[in-house]
Amino acid sequence: MNVRAVVLAAGKGTRMKSAQPKVLHEICGRPLLWYTLDALRRAGIEEILVVSNDELEARIEEFGARSVVQREQLGTGHAVQVALSALEARPGGRVVIAAGDMPLVTDSIFAEMASVLGNAAMALVTAHMPMPSNFGRVIREGDAIKRVVEVRDATPQELAVDEMNAGIYAFDEGELRGAIGSLKNDNAQGEYYLTDTVGHFVNAGKTVRPVAVERHEHVLGINDRTELALARREMNARLAAHHMRAGVTIIDPDTTYLEPELTIGRDTVIYPGTTISRLTTIGEGCTIGPHARLSHATIGDRVEICESVIVDSHIGDDSSVGPFAHIRGGADLAGENRVGNFVEIKNSTYAKGAKSAHLSYLGDASLGENTNIGAGTITCNFDGKNKHRTTIGKNVAIGSNTSIVAPRTIGDDALTGAGSVVTKDVAPGERVAGNPAKPLPKTS
Ligand code: UD1
Ligand code: MG
Repeated sequence: MNVRAVVLAAGKGTRMKSAQPKVLHEICGRPLLWYTLDALRRAGIEEILVVSNDELEARIEEFGARSVVQREQLGTGHAVQVALSALEARPGGRVVIAAGDMPLVTDSIFAEMASVLGNAAMALVTAHMPMPSNFGRVIREGDAIKRVVEVRDATPQELAVDEMNAGIYAFDEGELRGAIGSLKNDNAQGEYYLTDTVGHFVNAGKTVRPVAVERHEHVLGINDRTELALARREMNARLAAHHMRAGVTIIDPDTTYLEPELTIGRDTVIYPGTTISRLTTIGEGCTIGPHARLSHATIGDRVEICESVIVDSHIGDDSSVGPFAHIRGGADLAGENRVGNFVEIKNSTYAKGAKSAHLSYLGDASLGENTNIGAGTITCNFDGKNKHRTTIGKNVAIGSNTSIVAPRTIGDDALTGAGSVVTKDVAPGERVAGNPAKPLPKTS
């Protein structure tokens, strides 16, 4: 496809009142610019040039697109001029131009712009919008587009027009190169307006093709933090709809906070107040929430997670977590596990069927199959300088309020009595109790 895209992102974004560039502000866990690039790529446009500024340039690598710095922001027309000087000329090429602050533009809009041009010099997306609006007005004579006028240059009659320039264009590359040098900055903002190319082509007898969008929400430009919040809500609703269509029940999409690139299996039910982020995957038939936070988590099938936090961890099939558990730091639960209230698990592994149902801290520990951790158990993994591991075998019964002073190994089928302070390794089948814990007399 002989189509390249230019994404304008060098503007100062002063209305954000922020120390960071506007297009790096996030909605649903991704920077605004990410969404524009993602939609362009999904529309099949792989060659993308971002017009950035000095601050943005320092972060541009993470977006995987080429960039060119526009040192002084002299307007959208100037930005495109800078872009064209960085792109080698391609005969018969087309250039799609979009702004990096419009995260809700869909791939289908970009796909249409990539193919709509025909023999026209340019095409532009227009939208009917609620008034008042800061968007440039599309001025027509009859059906034909005449020009685009910016709000600050518009007459009262022009301001009354409710058809807006969305700021998304497709150009015949040769025509764009021919027009860009003729732009002037004799307007209210003293800027070179890309939008003046419309009048330029019309006056030269060339065709300018309008492309109408159905939903004006899709071309919302983010200029301040109220618009950022609106865009987040719209994007979240879109992400929720995607998962619901794929068989996930989301009880209240408004209070379920999602991101792109999540995997959620069918017949999983998500209760309100839940945040799911950072490439989390959830299996089928799970119950998540209310009030769960899952970040970079991998959850199996038929898992219940209620009012708990899971970060950088894996929970295997048929497990149940919460309420009020915190599982983090690369914890790996194999399946059929039970983690109950006020249990923290860090960098630990649970074999199948291991349980810690109440009030415990398991840090740097491994638990064998079907081992049961009594209420109030602590792995004392930190000696003030270093972290140490605790290894517990299978079918072990750790009594309530046991403290295990790591590094420690407790063998299969062992038992600790309530209140034990375990300062020595416990052999397989051994029963210990007390502070410090000592072997109990054999019962048989
Ligand atoms: C622009 C359009 C307006 C349209 C609106 C849609 C012009 C003159 N006006 O107005 O008709 O309705 O978008 O949102 O184009 N940028 C640069 N370099 C610059 C100036 C801007 O890269 O020198 C980038 C900005 O970062 C932004 C985009 O271009 O991503 C649009 O610039 P902005 O100043 O927001 O233009 P608007 O006033 O919104
Ligand atoms: Mg804008």
